[in-house]
Amino acid sequence: MTRKDQLAALLAIGRVVPVITIHRLVDAVPLARALVEGGIRLLEITLRTEAGLAGAQAIIREVPGAVVGIGTVLTPDDLKRAIDIGAQFALSPGATPALLDAAAGASIPFLPGIATASELMEAMARGFDTAKFFPATSAGGIPGLKALAGPFPQARFCPTGGVTEDNAAEWLVQPNVVAVGGSWLTPAAEIAAGQWDVIRDRAQRTQANLGAPA
Ligand code: 3PG
Repeated sequence: MTRKDQLAALLAIGRVVPVITIHRLVDAVPLARALVEGGIRLLEITLRTEAGLAGAQAIIREVPGAVVGIGTVLTPDDLKRAIDIGAQFALSPGATPALLDAAAGASIPFLPGIATASELMEAMARGFDTAKFFPATSAGGIPGLKALAGPFPQARFCPTGGVTEDNAAEWLVQPNVVAVGGSWLTPAAEIAAGQWDVIRDRAQRTQANLGAPA
């Protein structure tokens, strides 16, 4: 299967991707279980904490329904670490030439992050026509995304950064949006308090409201 086909298969699993920051390793598995029980299976585990990678590894090992992507991939080395633990995809807030070159030769789908036409052109030059639009709200919001559709009709986006439960549907109806990402599904305070039922219920509601194309 090509990386493009792999990405299409992933996007068929879900359209809402929680951006997850794990502070305590012990939270990783119950958090992922709560999301999967709520019907949200595509998970972005960020590398922005020390527990991130080990947390992702634990989820891959112990939560069979979870489809784990590694986020906040900033360097080729981060990408290698994601692949080494068996992540199924990787995402970045940006699109440096070094990272794009590494991802172009990698075995798993990669979503670079773009906020401008030039960044998107760098990504597309290496075959990446699906990208994070980050930081979505401050990089122009829905008008910015609509403007990119003009010169780049083939590009598809996962807006992230400022997407919320209240506005996710507005993003998802855009023809060039294939998924949305955000931290609203896994608030830090709820994770710290172990409120897995609250997280599961929000996931369930989100999946019911937004999970399938309108
Ligand atoms: C991130 O990478 O931090 C995501 O963009 C999350 O943004 P949000 O907190 O606005 O959802």
